[in-house]
Amino acid sequence: MSHNIINRLACPFCSAKMVRSDNARSLVCGGERRHCFDFSSSGYVNLAITHSEGGDSKMAVRSRSAFLEKGYYERVSDELNRLLDKYVPSGFAVDAGCGEGYYSTRAVGHNREVCGFDLSKYACETAAKKAARNGVGEKTFFGVASVYEMPLADGCADAVFNVFAPCVEEEYSRVLREGGYLIVCSAGADHLQGLKALLYDNVYKNETRADSPTRLTLVEHTNVCFEANITSNADIMDLFTMTPYYWRTSEDDKKKLEGIDNLSTLIDIDFFVYRK
Ligand SMILES: C[S@@+](CC[C@H](N)C(=O)[O-])C[C@H]1O[C@@H](n2cnc3c(N)ncnc32)[C@H](O)[C@@H]1O
Ligand SMILES: [Zn+2]
Repeated sequence: MSHNIINRLACPFCSAKMVRSDNARSLVCGGERRHCFDFSSSGYVNLAITHSEGGDSKMAVRSRSAFLEKGYYERVSDELNRLLDKYVPSGFAVDAGCGEGYYSTRAVGHNREVCGFDLSKYACETAAKKAARNGVGEKTFFGVASVYEMPLADGCADAVFNVFAPCVEEEYSRVLREGGYLIVCSAGADHLQGLKALLYDNVYKNETRADSPTRLTLVEHTNVCFEANITSNADIMDLFTMTPYYWRTSEDDKKKLEGIDNLSTLIDIDFFVYRK
């Protein structure tokens, strides 16, 4: 984690700037109360202001991590990086709702550092380990925090991106500098049609999201759509477990995936680029 990243952090309690402690094991704020946040052994920091656990469960994180590591969504990450390179070729980017850091670690560039926030400590732990493993630990930071209140200074970010996570226009605008960009990636109308056809009798198109920005300026909309072949039952189960369908599907319908070891399904992702 570089000084450049630490300089942009703000104490979640008093908004004061943060510095690394003398023994380098914590972040300490410069406010009167000297709020202190320890680095975990894997390298993330818990900056949440409540003690209640939130965000994705250990199981969802494990499944998503295993599935993404297989490369099924590489084209999604490539399109995100293409848009980042086009609009924000260098600088400081924030991955809001970063999950286990698949997109954040791949978005790190020669001149780009990435800070990811997620409510799930399991996600942040996995992300920090992944960043270290991939040799981008110095150019990333992962913190447990809500995307509704990110521990970042006003106007400190050149880009915010948000993949399948809540889109909070007001907060993302607050942390973006003037002229900075927000990239929102969300499920297109036909995303995971093949998986849904296995589970449900009636397969409906996905609805457009209700939390799309209304005040930032939309500058580009792109779409990535391709047929993915999922080639093992373990991968199909990981895909299912990482989606919201896992929680919405009856136990009887879940059984329909048993023994299926080949699935062809559309991956249909929309990318919206907004400028502040
Ligand atoms: C569908 S996952 C997407 C994760 C990652 N962006 C990806 O696409 O691989 C949604 C993530 O948002 C996180 N999340 C949900 N609500 C949140 C909130 N209010 N603040 C921060 N993270 C949140 C969850 O913990 C989860 O990791
Ligand atoms: Zn403080």
